[in-house]
Amino acid sequence: MMALASDHAGFTFKEKTKELLTQLQIPFKDFGTNSPESTDYPDYAHAGAVAISQGECDRGIFICGTGIGMSIVANKHKGVRAAAVESVAAAELARKHNDANVLCFGERLLTWETAQKIITTFLTTEFEGGRHERRVGKIHSLTSC
Ligand code: RB5
Repeated sequence: MMALASDHAGFTFKEKTKELLTQLQIPFKDFGTNSPESTDYPDYAHAGAVAISQGECDRGIFICGTGIGMSIVANKHKGVRAAAVESVAAAELARKHNDANVLCFGERLLTWETAQKIITTFLTTEFEGGRHERRVGKIHSLTSC
């Protein structure tokens, strides 16, 4: 189950992401926001990240103006590895090397065309494991998250 979250600045792309996931037959749960009215990104990143921490969702796509605020909040939650990305290459490496389970990006920084490619890459790229397994393990063992 994919957790979706955005603030007002990411609302339009979140709605487009829902259409894309529906086409791809990927189930999702929308943690808001539900309108383009100004709001606070930590509220929605927190709700989506808790769902991942608690096992209700296994992955997430969180969108704000830059993707940065969403990723900062998401990474404060146990078991969450959120990557704020602005390119397909970064999305690919976030999966291959970091086993990122939350994709964050900014509606103010990307076209929808690029965002769509980033989402598809996040969905289809596998974690490489090997030496990266040990390093990803240390993310959680050497920090309080
Ligand atoms: C909202 O104006 C903006 O600050 C927010 O969407 C995000 O970019 C924060 O990181």
